Amino acid sequence: MADLNRTIQQKAKDHFDYMVQTRRYLHKNPEISFKEHDTTDYILHELKKLGVETHRPLETGCVGIIEGKKSDRVIALRADIDALAMDEEGDQKKGFMSERVGAAHCCGHDAHTSNLLGTANILAEMQDEIDGKVLLIFQPAEESLPGGGRLLCETGFLQEQGVQEIYGMHTNPDYKPGEIASKPGPMMARPDEFEITLKGVGGHAATPHLTVDPIVLMGQVITQFQTLVSRSIDPTEPAVVTIGRVRAGTTYNVIPAFAEMIGTVRTFSEKNAYIIRDRMESILKGIMENAGGGYDFEFNEGYPAVNNDPELAAHLVTSAKALLGDTSTVEMEKPIMAGEDFAFYQKHFPGAFFFLGSGSDEADSKWSWHHPKYNIDEKCFLTGSALMASLVLGKR
Ligand code: NI
Repeated sequence: MADLNRTIQQKAKDHFDYMVQTRRYLHKNPEISFKEHDTTDYILHELKKLGVETHRPLETGCVGIIEGKKSDRVIALRADIDALAMDEEGDQKKGFMSERVGAAHCCGHDAHTSNLLGTANILAEMQDEIDGKVLLIFQPAEESLPGGGRLLCETGFLQEQGVQEIYGMHTNPDYKPGEIASKPGPMMARPDEFEITLKGVGGHAATPHLTVDPIVLMGQVITQFQTLVSRSIDPTEPAVVTIGRVRAGTTYNVIPAFAEMIGTVRTFSEKNAYIIRDRMESILKGIMENAGGGYDFEFNEGYPAVNNDPELAAHLVTSAKALLGDTSTVEMEKPIMAGEDFAFYQKHFPGAFFFLGSGSDEADSKWSWHHPKYNIDEKCFLTGSALMASLVLGKR
């Protein structure tokens, strides 16, 4: 095992420059969810260079398959490939800043893709030592509902291939390069989204008594929503309601006819998500009907919560400790409230997810996910590509 890990680590070093170059190329050429056409072509090209069999169950994204020794084991490794619809900042990314307006890899999916291509290189070289079959999933559209993970699972492709276990990861600025973090059970939240239109009666700013002012009512709704978590959810269970955007009105002297608000709800169970949804509706009904207005309310169910299979999470931690040492393997005490569409795979197959430490001062990579300056310390590839390979090559 120690020998195997040394070999894997050496190979990760051998392919380090390749992963860095790949990441920088992808970073420069980001594509947003469901539009990852060039990215998919690039990945297919890289996999074919390695002689890896490729499939395209969806229009964008792809799956590579490496067959090892004959065995029943079928293991899947997943990376997401899409960028965010935003512009980036930060001179720490000099030379490989996004060249596409309105698209930027500010969530590290460029790194996830290059890391998995690095793992593909390691595994292709150690093919004879693989027990069974490995699927390398390059999934589109992690950032947009309904989520590429869900769509891929719905094609039935992974089921046909007989996937028995699946692993995925996300770069994380809260941990250092060289570290990984995970936990059994709930690890990331269920993110639902809501869209609300408050319907009033517009009019002149000087005659508010002849209107139903949706801006004033919005103030009440926002305040009431602050009681959703504090007064409707069991305090021992984490939940968040965040209103991310409010919009109303056009100018100084007009009371608008409607006001809009959108936001997200984070929970760890369907039960709590539905409690919040139903309470939102009754708050809206109460406030708006009482004022003589109306409302539209849409609650869009997002990804389920990421819930790690205990046995696979144990395999993950054991593999990480053997590869990186005890101090570099963080066993998380509590889950985090961000969501991940990796959860969809876990509805179909046992799976485990981990965070790959990528935050450092040298790389100016401690900015949070989705920050315009988001960056990764590329040294994380040495850990990430090796751990992915060792999950496949090491005995469970
Ligand atoms: Ni992400």
